Amino acid sequence: PIRPVILAGGAGTRLWPLSTSAKPKHLLSLLGEKSLFEQTLDRFGEQFAAPIIVANQAQEADLRALGASAAAIILEPCKRDSAAAIALAAAWADEDELLLICPSDHHIGDVAAFHTAIEIARDAAEAGRLVTFGIEPDHPATGFGYIAAGGGDGQLRPVDRFVEKPPLEKAQQMIAAGGYYWNAGIFLGSAKTWRAELAAYVPAILDAAQAALDRSERDGAVARVEEQAFANAPAKSIDYAVMEHSNRVSVVPVSMGWSDIGSWQALVDASDKDEAGNAIPAGVLALDCKDTLIRTSGPKVAAIGVEGLVIVATAEAVLVMRPEEAQRVREAASWFEGST
Ligand code: GDD
Ligand code: MG
Repeated sequence: PIRPVILAGGAGTRLWPLSTSAKPKHLLSLLGEKSLFEQTLDRFGEQFAAPIIVANQAQEADLRALGASAAAIILEPCKRDSAAAIALAAAWADEDELLLICPSDHHIGDVAAFHTAIEIARDAAEAGRLVTFGIEPDHPATGFGYIAAGGGDGQLRPVDRFVEKPPLEKAQQMIAAGGYYWNAGIFLGSAKTWRAELAAYVPAILDAAQAALDRSERDGAVARVEEQAFANAPAKSIDYAVMEHSNRVSVVPVSMGWSDIGSWQALVDASDKDEAGNAIPAGVLALDCKDTLIRTSGPKVAAIGVEGLVIVATAEAVLVMRPEEAQRVREAASWFEGST
């Protein structure tokens, strides 16, 4: 069976003030009762092998509680980005195992479509391919990887080119040209293939991860990797480290209600809304509001007669913003960090 590898390393200031370094996005319940991390685990039923969770050691307590049935919880002493996290999982696994690399902080509305896409990818992954999952783009986003699919219009296609986070102009050109998909950040490949591609393009990352895992401190399913060895790993995302260079990449185009909930605007888009276009939870007083999203993690919130706003209240801070300005929320987050 395929083994999910759940990456839980992101800090994420784009959903400030709800997400903070102490409460990263994957631990938030943004769509539904459960946190994004729990929803990620729930996507993998008995047809999958027990997952490997790779996370920062600061999150040990939260993840131990949530990932009780994990095959391994690999804890990193410092942040070295996703290539090193994937290298740890590939070094931990048996070489013939198929590893499904999954972010822990995404939303997938249609899980059946996701599972179908994984099945389409399986044979290619067994044959040594790294399979990506391609999302139909609808605007020239600069925060995603772009996948140029070749070879006809099958369910599984070879990738001609992988372009990570292009500048706006290039993203616009690719959208205009057509034939590109967004990279969902989910990858299927055997442990052997991951090791081979990491060894080919970023050997220092694989070596550091292997050494850090060899010297890790084990406590049941929990492995605390050794700091000195792991700190030697260059910090690079898997996209820049491997996906842009590998010539073993394939893509399965999939429509599965995917969102990385990378901004308040993305949360507005992915939320269930009432007839007036509001996403407002019980316990909030909203009178004659339109197209407004409200979240509170404590304070009582009342909104009257407002339109097209995002209103977020926590014990420490309040954000009031038009969702079109969502990319500027970092400005507020760094102002907040600097002023407390
Ligand atoms: N364990 C661990 N340690 N996980 C990490 C680390 C780390 O140091 N750094 C990042 N991750 C995890 C994040 O938690 C997330 O689940 C995943 O790796 C991807 O990292 P992000 O930092 O969220 O990447 P991104 O969103 O900028 O870009 C990636 O995802 C896009 C789709 O959402 C890329 O793969 C893009 O190509 C893709 O389009
Ligand atoms: Mg992300």
